[in-house]
Amino acid sequence: MKHLLKLADLSREEILSVLNLADQLKYERKHGVFKEYLKGKKLGMIFQKSSTRTRVSFEVGMYELGGNALFLSNRDLQIGRGEPVEDTARVLSRYLDAIMIRTFAQQEVEDLAKYGSIPVINGLTDYCHPCQVLADLMTIRERKGAFKGLKMCFVGDGNNMANSLMVGAVRTGMSFSIACPKGYEPDKDLMAWAKENGSFTLTRSAEEAAADADVVYTDVWASMGQEDEKAKREKAFAGYQVNAAVMASAKPDAMVLHCLPAHRGEEITAEVFEAHADEIFEEAENRLHAQKAVLCKVMK
Ligand code: CP
Ligand code: NVA
Repeated sequence: MKHLLKLADLSREEILSVLNLADQLKYERKHGVFKEYLKGKKLGMIFQKSSTRTRVSFEVGMYELGGNALFLSNRDLQIGRGEPVEDTARVLSRYLDAIMIRTFAQQEVEDLAKYGSIPVINGLTDYCHPCQVLADLMTIRERKGAFKGLKMCFVGDGNNMANSLMVGAVRTGMSFSIACPKGYEPDKDLMAWAKENGSFTLTRSAEEAAADADVVYTDVWASMGQEDEKAKREKAFAGYQVNAAVMASAKPDAMVLHCLPAHRGEEITAEVFEAHADEIFEEAENRLHAQKAVLCKVMK
């Protein structure tokens, strides 16, 4: 594994291999064992958007693996003043061993990898969020034992999360259904790919999408960068909430996942959120283990 630019770049085997290593690292950490798999390695973390989980889990992850992480904010880097990404990539490649980047355009992540000579990890773009979905898959496998035969449903915006979840579901053999309003569908090419390579359905009804689901997933109605569309989106997404009615449609033992941050009363009710807080916060913890596995894979 050279980079993690998007989940679709990984084969089923590569995904499972990351998850297996993540399970091992979680086990070791739980037993107080910290092996310095990345001793002396340096990770640069470029953030053009806010973050709690991604920033802290990558930084702590590098520390626990014996390496270092540098927080590089857009406000401080010359990239924020227009220095081209191809120059930034070539410069940072001479100091660092890998780069994690959170930004808007997927192209910027791809360019960083193209012009640089070190591994690049996508920490979220408008298009996808592969690190999050690796942690989600880890959480699902921990709780359900296996992926085959499971149904995952996503209620809400066909955003970066929906795009990556769809790929994760297809790669691991889960069926995937999404309920979203007209005009807020996931990426067209990805939907076509999912239909061809797995089981994919799109509906306008949250209850219908959730029918017999094993995993119910949701995310914010307005993502980072869409703040000024908030009012318009609140209207469009009014019927797309994970609530008691949606959960009644899912399997009785269905788990609920949310990448966080969550907006109670919008995409999820406070009741459903709290009833499933155990798995949601385990999912957040698993960001650490899954990303440590990714770091080991790309910097090995
Ligand atoms: N889920 C997630 O990526 O959280 P942050 O935005 O806090 O990093
Ligand atoms: N869709 C959200 C995910 C945050 C982790 C966003 O992009 O803001």
